[in-house]
Amino acid sequence: MNIRGEHYRTIWPTDAHRSVTIIDQTALPFAFRTRLLRNAATVAEAIQTMQVRGAPLIGVAAAYGMALAMQTDASDASVERAHALLLATRPTAVNLAWALNRVRAALRTLSPSERPQAALQLAGQLADEDVAINQAMGEHGFGRIDALWRTRGGQGRINVLTHCNAGWLATVDWGTALAPVYRAFDAGIPIHVWVDETRPRNQGASLTAWELGQHGVPHTLIADNAGGHLMQHGHVDLCFVGTDRTTATGDVCNKIGTYLKALAANDNGVPFYVCAPSPSIDFSLTDGVQQIPIEERSEREVTHLWGLDDQGGVREVRVAPEGCRALNVGFDVTPARLVTELITERGCCRASSEGLAALFPERRIDTKRVR
Ligand code: MRU
Repeated sequence: MNIRGEHYRTIWPTDAHRSVTIIDQTALPFAFRTRLLRNAATVAEAIQTMQVRGAPLIGVAAAYGMALAMQTDASDASVERAHALLLATRPTAVNLAWALNRVRAALRTLSPSERPQAALQLAGQLADEDVAINQAMGEHGFGRIDALWRTRGGQGRINVLTHCNAGWLATVDWGTALAPVYRAFDAGIPIHVWVDETRPRNQGASLTAWELGQHGVPHTLIADNAGGHLMQHGHVDLCFVGTDRTTATGDVCNKIGTYLKALAANDNGVPFYVCAPSPSIDFSLTDGVQQIPIEERSEREVTHLWGLDDQGGVREVRVAPEGCRALNVGFDVTPARLVTELITERGCCRASSEGLAALFPERRIDTKRVR
């Protein structure tokens, strides 16, 4: 990823591996700030307050949280404590449990003296794997963009709509849904992104618009309700979104509002692609609407907004009547039938149990697996 022309990841070990540094996403787009995290408790707090967010990134951050816990206490009890603390931070993205279970399983096979080093190594490995997965998805998604571009004889521009932030800020690097966009842009295809603002936390306005701008990708911010209108008028060629949890049957849980975009895309014949790295696929679930836990956050995120005032101060203002109640559900489920294709690191497939089984034959549906 580019920040003022310099290459960054969103998380990296520091201080001879005694800490990790993150980009504080709550400060963007007004300030670029990093934060040093020294133990599992501060990693948990950073995930909960969404200083780090996005399904793949919270998985990797949690793995580093486990690794930091091992530096001071590598006992069995500490492994379980750190696992439980970090798992409780956010409920919807399965990447969190996936990463924590992977680290815990590895640590359980080792003696306490081996754990500090092994945990750091594994966290670093998960970070590198995330980058490789996203690069591969970028390549497969690029194939879809390039094919469309060729059918148009290389004329005009490709208009992509995306929701929330599934770019490099949501991962270690590259992003999920935006990886194909960056790949196409770098290949010289004229591409433009409609960025849903993504209320209530505005990840589109504050993060997606910012990171696309850093890379130089043309984009336009739109109100969440504008996408359907743009699709009706032929202004959207493709939708690319991410996922926090995809079931073995291809239902996709992503940031609240994704479902409405999928409905509008379906009604208007706009292909709706979901970039689904395998750590975000929960092969133990078969019904996204019934089985995926949906995060509920504070009412204040709906009744209030953060922004920069004319004096350069970042302020919170209320947009609802005083005392107005609000409901803040963070995610929704898009049924598989509305998804044109899942784009995974192993290639593209139908959003169905058959499609996923063909790409991941070793991951049979296992409804009894403990999550
Ligand atoms: O609540 P957030 O900001 O963590 O939600 C992020 C999303 O919904 C992303 O679309 C998702 O994690 C998919 S992939 C990066």
